[in-house]
Amino acid sequence: MQNDNAPRVGVFDSGIGGLTVLAECARQAPQAIYYYYGDNAHAPYGARSPREIAGFVGAAVRRLRLYGVCAVVLACNTATAVCVDMLRKTCPVPIVGIEPAVAPAARRCRRVLVLTTPVTARSERLCRLTEGFPQCDITVYGAPGLAAAIERGLSRGEGVTIFDHLPSGRYDGVVLGCTHYAFFRREIGLFYGCPVFDGARGTGARLRQLLSDMDPGTDDHLLFTRNTNKCFSKKAKYHHKKQVIFLGKCKKINEYVYNTNICFI
Ligand code: DGL
Repeated sequence: MQNDNAPRVGVFDSGIGGLTVLAECARQAPQAIYYYYGDNAHAPYGARSPREIAGFVGAAVRRLRLYGVCAVVLACNTATAVCVDMLRKTCPVPIVGIEPAVAPAARRCRRVLVLTTPVTARSERLCRLTEGFPQCDITVYGAPGLAAAIERGLSRGEGVTIFDHLPSGRYDGVVLGCTHYAFFRREIGLFYGCPVFDGARGTGARLRQLLSDMDPGTDDHLLFTRNTNKCFSKKAKYHHKKQVIFLGKCKKINEYVYNTNICFI
C-alpha cells in the first residue's frame, strides 16, 4: 500500500500494450502510484491518421492530469512518434516517451529488424533514429493488424497467432517498436532466432530518474496533487490505496491481462 505523498504517475497506451511498460516502471520506481489509461475504445492507433491520434492522446493526458499525476509516461511508440514533442510544449507535467530500442540493438547487431505499427514506421522520428546508425542494415516493418490481433486476442483471453504477421528474413536482432508486441517477446525471439530489444527498460529508467530529480524536500510532485485533489472522486480516493489504478473503458480487460501476467511486476 502506498502513502498519500507518493508521486502519482499516469501511464498511457492505446490499449493493453502499455502494461508491459507499466510493469517496468513499477519495478524501477516502486514508490509511485500508477494511473493506467488504455484507450482501447479507439485502438488500434497504428492505422489512424496522426491528427486523430494526437487528439486522442491529448484528451487522455488531460484526463490523467485530473488525478494529480506529476508525470505521464506515453507507453505507446505510436503516440510518442506522433505527438510527444507537441505534448511537451503544452502539458505542464513532464512527459516520458518510449522509443524503439534501436540504439542498443545497433550496438550489438548488424542486421536489425524494427517491428512497429504502420504509423510509427512512417514517422519522421523513427526515420531520424535509424539514420543515426549507418553502419547497420536496418529494416523497418510496420505490421498492419498485429497490434489489433494482440489487443483483441489477449483482452478476450483467446489465442493469438502472431506468425502470419511477421515478415520473413534473417536478422541478428529484432527491435519491438510497439508495446503490444512485447507480450510475444519470447515467440518473436524464437521465430527469428536472435536477441529481441524493447524500450521498456529505458523508459522505466527515465521515469525513475525524473522522480528522483523531483526534490523530495520541496515535494514538487505534490504541487500537482494538491491542485487537483478537488477533482478526486470518492472512488478514485479508494483506488488511491492501490498501486495501480486502471482508467478508461478497458478497465476490466486490463485488470484481466494484468492479473494473468503477474510475473511482469
Ligand atoms: N501499443 C502501441 C505502440 O506501442 C500501438 C498499438 C496500436 O494501437 O496500434 O505503438
